Amino acid sequence: MKKVFIFSSSLRVGSNSEALALKIKEGAEKSGSEVTFLSARDIDLKFCIGCLSCVKTGNCVLKDSMKDIYEKVSESDVLVFASPIYYYGISGLLKTFLDRLNPLFGKKNKFKEVYLAFSAAEDEGEETYKRAVIAISGWTDCFDGVEIKETVFVGGVGKPNEAASKNEILEKAYKLGENI
Ligand SMILES: Cc1cc2nc3c(=O)[nH]c(=O)nc-3n(C[C@H](O)[C@H](O)[C@H](O)COP(=O)(O)O)c2cc1C
Repeated sequence: MKKVFIFSSSLRVGSNSEALALKIKEGAEKSGSEVTFLSARDIDLKFCIGCLSCVKTGNCVLKDSMKDIYEKVSESDVLVFASPIYYYGISGLLKTFLDRLNPLFGKKNKFKEVYLAFSAAEDEGEETYKRAVIAISGWTDCFDGVEIKETVFVGGVGKPNEAASKNEILEKAYKLGENI
């Protein structure tokens, strides 16, 4: 049984990227994985202040929801990051989340596989989300043996809840989850 940690970084109600993340969750649970689903809406997440105390002590000096999240992330086999495409990149919240995972940098973490889910108004395939993948690979490349395995993308969804009618892509997200 794999442990899967999903972070959904859109604050929008009816989030399209979250719709993909929830399908991934459904598929992963169906195939017996233990899934932790975390929405940015439900946490208090401060910006990294760059003090690097975590490099010395292993802990973050900031007092917010992250203190309860480090262990969960570190002990997961698989990480899933979901983000709306903002200016062809990731959401600021996902970037902040990745920055705040710095206490795990250089530690022995369990996760090796990362999956991504993006949504955007435009529908030009990889052209629309390739910079977002690059942004996240900047993070994965800094963790030994960690790689981005697969990305699921729903385009043409500018308004909330529009992903709900994209059955083919939702099925793809479900299958991705099932095969984790
Ligand atoms: C600040 C901002 C920037 C955006 N930039 C892009 C963009 O560069 N390309 C694009 O296709 N859509 C862009 N969009 C549209 C969103 O990607 C789209 O509405 C997406 O479905 C939002 O995902 P969510 O529902 O999960 O929040 C942008 C939206 C916002 C609010």
